[in-house]
Parts: sequence; structure tokens; C-alpha cells
Amino acid sequence: MMRALQPRESQTVSRGAVALSTKRTLFPLGSTLTLRCPVVQASLGSCDGPRLAAAVSRAGALGSLTINGGSDIRLKRRLIQLRRLTKRPVLIAFTPQWQRETVLNACLEQGFHHFQVFWWNGPRLSHEIHAVGGTVFWQVGTVEQAKEALENGADILVAPGTDAGGQVRSPYSLQELLEKLQSITAGQVPIVAGGGLANVRDVATILSQGASAALMGTRFLLSEEAQAERHCKIRLARADVSDLILDPQVAGEWPCAPRRYLRTASGADFPALFAGRGISSINDVRPAAEIVRRLTPAQHRKGWEAILPLSHPISATV
Ligand SMILES: Cc1cc2nc3c(=O)[nH]c(=O)nc-3n(C[C@H](O)[C@H](O)[C@H](O)COP(=O)(O)O)c2cc1C
Repeated sequence: MMRALQPRESQTVSRGAVALSTKRTLFPLGSTLTLRCPVVQASLGSCDGPRLAAAVSRAGALGSLTINGGSDIRLKRRLIQLRRLTKRPVLIAFTPQWQRETVLNACLEQGFHHFQVFWWNGPRLSHEIHAVGGTVFWQVGTVEQAKEALENGADILVAPGTDAGGQVRSPYSLQELLEKLQSITAGQVPIVAGGGLANVRDVATILSQGASAALMGTRFLLSEEAQAERHCKIRLARADVSDLILDPQVAGEWPCAPRRYLRTASGADFPALFAGRGISSINDVRPAAEIVRRLTPAQHRKGWEAILPLSHPISATV
């Protein structure tokens, strides 16, 4: 088993006017990112959004914003809103629907340089992203996909195992997938691994197994900032893993997308009810910053309370 990237320590951390001279541990993720919390908020399609992505990144993890169609004007508005909310890096996730050349430029204009692709759009987009100095996160579910990603210069692999919520891209358990990927990356490419993770123990376990960061979607769907109806979040918070189904039917434009979601009486499935198998251990809806704080391994939390008090509200107009 490969060793995880080693966290490094910093002496001074500042956030606005607050500067602490306490020892803090930072987690490098590739050569262009350093996180205070080794967690990446997964792309949640229509359920993420600027408020969630910004709150996660401001709290020290890496937030994601999904680009899933819409006009150029709407996209620019979302990116400007996101930039107003945080100056920190945010991962911009491109879904299959993203086709327009203008989209990458709009992201760059607002200073976003980290992008997520997968096998469907990766071979084309990764070259464009590298040409403008961007970093490519490449979502993979199999060894073949990972090899293609590496051949195309992927900087970071994103590996959701078969317990993931929403679109399930891998036939392998998280541990199996991680081992397979480690055998071909030889520790040279960071891996963000997840699917079914719920809490700080899961984060610590996945790091101990060699991942550089934990990928978490459902945990952040059950945040105050996620763009889903509150009653859907509450239903999920009360749900158990036995309430979920893995629907093998490939839907919409997704090239490979059995989906895991909450079984409903009507049989309808929509993103606000997508959830991973960690759902039994996720029983509350919290502000994203508080979720990030709780996901930070305890020994690395020093100084957190001074920076992010519990239930710290994130203003939409920062
Ligand atoms: C509500 C929801 C929406 C999702 N939408 C997308 C999406 O649009 N694009 C995508 O690549 N993955 C999507 N996924 C999958 C996540 O990116 C990620 O693989 C998954 O959430 C990880 O598993 P977890 O939910 O158990 O943490 C979605 C997942 C959820 C829960």
C-alpha cells in the first residue's frame, strides 16, 4: 500500500483580521493546492452552487461548482458570485453537457484554475486546460479509465467507489479501487477517493489507505447551503442505507450512470434525493463550514475554534 502524502505544518494562519501563531497542519493536494482540511466536496450537479462551493473552500477544504449547461451570461453570473464569496480555489466540474469554448475562458477570467473532467470529456478538455496552465482533476472508476487519464496528463485522480451517491461510475469498492489506482500511479499522482464516506473517521481511514484527500458528496448535500429543497434534506437525514436503491438504468446524457438514490413512493428520482451508502451515519443538516470543521482529523483541528466558531453562518454577501 502506498504512503499518503505527508501533511506539513505551518506556523501562522490568517483569515481576514485573524492571525494565529499556532501550529497548524496543511495538506498538499498536487503542486497547486494546499488544504487545511483534506476533503473535496464532490460535484453535486444542480445541488451544489456558489454558496456551497464558497463555504467549503473558505472553511479550508476544496469546494466544487458544477457547470451543467445554461447560457454564457448565467454562467458568468455564477462565477462572479462565487468569486465574491471566496478568493480561495474552487474546483470547477465539467459535466457532459459542457461543450462551449467560452466556458473555460469565463472560468479563467474569474481566476479559477482547477477543473474536473472524466472519461467522456477528459481527452478533449484536458489538453485545453493544460494549455492555459490549469490543473486537471480526472474522475475515474476503473483502471482503464485511469490509464487513459494518466496518458492524457491528469494531475489528480478522483475516485468514487461503488458506494457513491448519485451517478455511480465504479464496479469496485472504494478500497479495491484505491489499491488498483495506486498500483498504476506508484504514488506519483494524488488520489481523491470517496463514495459512501460520512464522517471524520472515514476521512482518517481513507487517508491512512493512501488517498491524499476524501471525496464527499452526500455529506455536503445535507448542508444548509446545498441547493436542494429542505424537505428532501430532512428525508435523507432520516434515511437509512436500506432506503436507497441503485437504479441500473442509464439515464439522460450520462454515458455511464446507474444512479443511487432514495426510494420514493412515486418511484421518481431527482438529484436532491441522490445519496451514497454513508447515509446511515449522516443524520443532520449543518452549515458547510461546520461540516468541514468536523471532518478535519482532531489532531489537525488546533486553532479551529478561533477561526470558525461552531455553526458559523456564511453570509451570501461577503
Ligand atoms: C446529489 C448528488 C448529485 C450528483 N451529481 C453529480 C453530477 O452532476 N456530476 C457528477 O460527476 N457526479 C455527481 N454526483 C456524484 C458525486 O460527484 C460523487 O461521486 C458522490 O457524491 C460521492 O459519493 P458520496 O455521495 O457517498 O459521498 C452526485 C452525487 C450526489 C449525491
